[in-house]
Parts: sequence; C-alpha cells; structure tokens
Amino acid sequence: MSFPTHRPRRLRRSEALRSLVRETRLSVDGLIYPMFVCPGNKVRQEVSSMPGIHQQSPDQILEECREVEALGIPGIILFGLPETKDPQGASSLHAQGPVQRAIEAIRKANLKLLIITDVCLCEYTDHGHCGVIENGEVANDPTLAILAKQALSHARAGADIVAPSDMMDGRVAAIREMLDEHKFENIAILSYAAKYCSGFYGPFREAAQSAPQFGDRRSYQMDPANAREALKEVALDLEEGADMVMVKPALPYLDIIRRVRDAFDVPVAAYNVSGEYSMVKAAAKNDWVDEKRVVLEILTGIQRAGAGTILTYHAKDVARWLKAC
Ligand code: PBG
Repeated sequence: MSFPTHRPRRLRRSEALRSLVRETRLSVDGLIYPMFVCPGNKVRQEVSSMPGIHQQSPDQILEECREVEALGIPGIILFGLPETKDPQGASSLHAQGPVQRAIEAIRKANLKLLIITDVCLCEYTDHGHCGVIENGEVANDPTLAILAKQALSHARAGADIVAPSDMMDGRVAAIREMLDEHKFENIAILSYAAKYCSGFYGPFREAAQSAPQFGDRRSYQMDPANAREALKEVALDLEEGADMVMVKPALPYLDIIRRVRDAFDVPVAAYNVSGEYSMVKAAAKNDWVDEKRVVLEILTGIQRAGAGTILTYHAKDVARWLKAC
C-alpha cells in the first residue's frame, strides 16, 4: 500500500515537523578548528588561498583561541611553521618551537580548549616530505623515531591529543610506546588512518609551507581509488593503539567515512580539508553559492556519513550560525 496512504510530505510541512523528525543534528560539539602557528610575536598573516585563515605567532594564536572557546568550539588542531628546515625535520622537536610555545601559552591562559597537534615532518623538512629521505625514497622506519619524539615534545608542552598525519607504517605504535615510556599514557592518539593522496591539500601547502620539493606523496598516502584498503589502514592503526581514527579529505570520501563508521566501534573523525574550504570561499565570494547554506549542508553531509568529529576551517562561522539559529 503506497500513495495515497503514504505521503512523506506530511512530515515536511513546517519547520517544527521537519525539526521533530530530523535524523542528523549538526552541533558545534564535534567541531575542531585548525590553526597555523609561526615563529615570532604579533605576527598575523592571512593565507591568500584561504580567506579568514591566518599564520600566527603564539601570542596571536592565544587571542584567537579565546574567541574559539567563547564560540563553544571544543578544540583546535595546531600546525607549525618552524624557523628552520633540514633533511630530518629536527626543528619539530624543539621545546621552544612555535607549536610547543603556542600550547604552553594556551595552557597558561587556562583555556578549556582541547589541544590537538598534527604530528608530521613535512612542515619541518627542507625537502617537504613527511619522512626522511634515503636513496631517493621516503624511508619508513627511520622516520618513526622522529615522529615519536615530536609527539612526546607536544605532550610535554601540554597537548591533549596527538594526531599523526604522515602515513608511515607503524607510527601509531611507535608514538604510543614513546608516550607511555614517559608517563604520558593518558594522552590520546587521533590517527589520520585513511589519508588519501589528494589534490585538495593545495591551499594547506601554502598555509603550512609544506609542499614537497620533488616528487609527490603517492608512495605513502593512499590511492584515491581504494576503499577496502582504508579499512585495513584503520584496523592496523587501532591494533597499534589509536584511540580515534580519521578519514581525510571528507567530501570525495563520504563512502569511506560510512564504511569505517559501520566497521569499527571507535570515534571517527573527518577532515574537511583546505581545498574543500577554499572552493566554497571562492564560489561564495562570486555569489555563486550561498556560503552559510552550502557550508551547513556540507558539514551535515559529513556528519550524516558517520563522522562524529569534523576538523574544519569553517568551524567559527558554523558556531556563529548555529548560535543564531
Ligand atoms: C601534513 C598534513 C597535510 C594536511 C594535514 N596534515 C598536508 C599534506 O599531507 O600534504 C592537509 C590539511 C588540509 O589540506 O587542510 N602531512
């Protein structure tokens, strides 16, 4: 028995009805705001391909963090732009590096914000790859110890969660072991488990000054054509001790988010990456789309696909819009 008995439009007649039966409720509670920390003081430089997003020194980061907290956004993820780069990414370990200084400033100010740090080498190496180079290739195992030390330096500075984004095999285990050895057993690991080799990271590489100087990242980031392999990557990271897993980018990989959500009972995050942000910003600037409407639709879609946590450059705008609703 179908029409006229069944009329799905009955429940769409008013906002009250639509709201009553809404399946996905986007909220600020699952949003994480990404931020770029550079050296110095009083530095605040807008990223040209990412309107509204800045490279900032730790003092300025702290100011924006106050705003982020006031908007009810629960956390941030920090990316660092170091003073110097070398083949090993040694500056990523400095206790006085920009990320470490920013964490300390936020902690000292007693903000409630969760501090997540991106753990990777690409921002710190002169060649721009996410691992060290041996014989012209990105070498897996020698990279692990450096990543583990970097995670430790973030934990020492006061990070709550470390998020390795390098895609080296075995890095979650190496980081877990290093943290535990130094009594940081309560610091969680959010692994970028299914991170695809994507053209959508373009604007980020300007923001983080982390473009590879030769070749590309295909030998370590995932092939966009693969879905089953994502489940294997997630399973391995969970076995190694990841507390949460991430799919990245978000929009071209909603099927992956859904499959990971269905296959594993752990918190699943998705990264609504720089290129996804910049496309919306560019279209909105031209009045080709209604920015608020498409951003809320995009984030609702990512949440509906199964992501409980969404890392997004739109976080502050979304928090304002949801407050006004
Ligand atoms: C570092 C890293 C990247 C992003 C997050 N961590 C860039 C890359 O892998 O090239 C991308 C985030 C974004 O595009 O917003 N490895």
